[in-house]
Amino acid sequence: MAAAGHDVQIDHVSHRFADYVAVDDVSLTIDGGGLVALLGPSGCGKSTLLRIIAGFIAQSSGRILFDGAPVDHLPANRRGVGIVFQNYALFPHMTVRDNVAYGLRAQKWERDDIGPRVEEMLRRVHMAQFADRFPKQLSGGQQQRVALARCLATDPKVLLLDEPFAALDKNLRFDMQVEVKRLQHEYGITTIMVTHDQEEALAMADRIAVMSRGRLEQVASPTEIYDRPATLFVNQFVGSTNLLRGELLAQDSNGALVRLDDGTALRAADSKGLMPGAKVVVAVRPEGLVLSDNAVEGARPGRIKTVMPLGPQVAYDIETEDGAALKAVVARSGASGLREADSIVHVAPVSPAACNIFAIE
Ligand SMILES: Nc1ncnc2c1ncn2[C@@H]1O[C@H](COP(=O)(O)OP(=O)(O)OP(=O)(O)O)[C@@H](O)[C@H]1O
Ligand SMILES: [Mg+2]
Repeated sequence: MAAAGHDVQIDHVSHRFADYVAVDDVSLTIDGGGLVALLGPSGCGKSTLLRIIAGFIAQSSGRILFDGAPVDHLPANRRGVGIVFQNYALFPHMTVRDNVAYGLRAQKWERDDIGPRVEEMLRRVHMAQFADRFPKQLSGGQQQRVALARCLATDPKVLLLDEPFAALDKNLRFDMQVEVKRLQHEYGITTIMVTHDQEEALAMADRIAVMSRGRLEQVASPTEIYDRPATLFVNQFVGSTNLLRGELLAQDSNGALVRLDDGTALRAADSKGLMPGAKVVVAVRPEGLVLSDNAVEGARPGRIKTVMPLGPQVAYDIETEDGAALKAVVARSGASGLREADSIVHVAPVSPAACNIFAIE
């Protein structure tokens, strides 16, 4: 592996646009070569944070450090940062080849090395055949790939990607995700990637940082974020979920016992330190529910409203007797086939570990 990318440290960074706090006391450390995905709703401050790291915005307070040294005094072009932003602004008057070569010339690469490097990078993003075109002769996704090649060509130690694949269709998007992940890993580039796409974050990132209203809600591995979300916000923002209201009855070494509002009893693995009597909401993912034909203990009956075959899985919308809507996603085994709309099923969580308890504020 080549020399690893910088350790990036975001140290109590805040940013205000006039009175509006866009980034609110964010601290986050990314080890050299790591890939962190910033995930969060529109307007929560993701791009602002990325622009601060890049050096395009001077934060109101806090520090950015690369390998332990503050870079706040350095302009964007002296931070060794590669950037692919939402608007992929290629130089319109330059060909694709010249766009990719631009950064290498600026870095004073040897003339003879520039050509082969440009060809290599264009090949990697499947754009070699477009080298002589101008940006306006390319589609949005093609421009985005050239922007990525231009950025990677200069061997950045930190890569900042702001929705880099948003304009690509599904297959190309997947190819580029694999390619970026491979290059990032091969060169050990420290990468921070903003994305709206949860699956992209779950698939590509070592860690996911979920942001809400300028603050970090949780920073953890993709499995941790998905299986053990720290807050209801994270639970609802990443993946879909069923929310069941109830009251915490008891907690013991086996976890928590909850009585749902419709009277059903439910076990959750962890009561998160809540006291018996607390009003809670239990979050269960669609794939955390099992369906059975017969009434079993802890299952609530419901009527199937919609059947959505998703290939290897089937999604069912189910309405329980008290009118609650539940979504269940179950594996489709060859033998059992599909359940029918309007049939009655009994729905229960797969296990206590599939149930996450949150306090109702
Ligand atoms: N130059 C600016 N002046 C004033 N307010 C701004 C400026 N840039 C961003 N904002 C505000 O700061 C907040 C955060 O913006 P930001 O672009 O960081 O959001 P984001 O998380 O990237 O959203 P999106 O997912 O839609 O790209 C928003 O409410 C936005 O309106
Ligand atoms: Mg943005």
